[in-house]
Amino acid sequence: MASLRSMELEINGAQYALTIEPRVTLLDALRENLGLTGTKKGCDQGQCGACTVHVDGERVLACLTLAVQAEGRSIRTIEGLASKDDTLDAVQQAFIEEDAFQCGYCTPGQIMSAVACIREGHAGSDAEIREFMAGNLCRCGAYNGIVAAVRKAAQRIQGAAA
Ligand code: FES
Ligand code: FES
Repeated sequence: MASLRSMELEINGAQYALTIEPRVTLLDALRENLGLTGTKKGCDQGQCGACTVHVDGERVLACLTLAVQAEGRSIRTIEGLASKDDTLDAVQQAFIEEDAFQCGYCTPGQIMSAVACIREGHAGSDAEIREFMAGNLCRCGAYNGIVAAVRKAAQRIQGAAA
């Protein structure tokens, strides 16, 4: 029988205790063990970006990260983006305004990447946005709306900071 391991994960500012096999990915821990299904499973092998989350402020692919690797670190998922009073993050708001999705399956990963794109200063032009976001695939082809949303959110965030 496979060995189990107890651990605590900090997700969106809250502590979660779980006991799982060490080989369980962060993606499966989030979705299957903790019920945080906002993070999506597309390819499960690092090819589509649907599972993008942040660990210590950096975007990572949760399907390529073991849950144990995230122990003691700060994890942020799409469920943790809106503020406590349910005000949407600037990127979420811009995705709605720009119709940046169709089926929505890729959207949580797109938004988590977009937040990193803006925060890391890669939203200076549409070409730069497209390059940073290239690992996030959209089967519906909503790319023009996605780029427009990232551009709009970046302008708002930078305008608010000025
Ligand atoms: S599910 Fe992780 S990259 Fe596709
Ligand atoms: S909106 Fe359907 S996959 Fe992107």
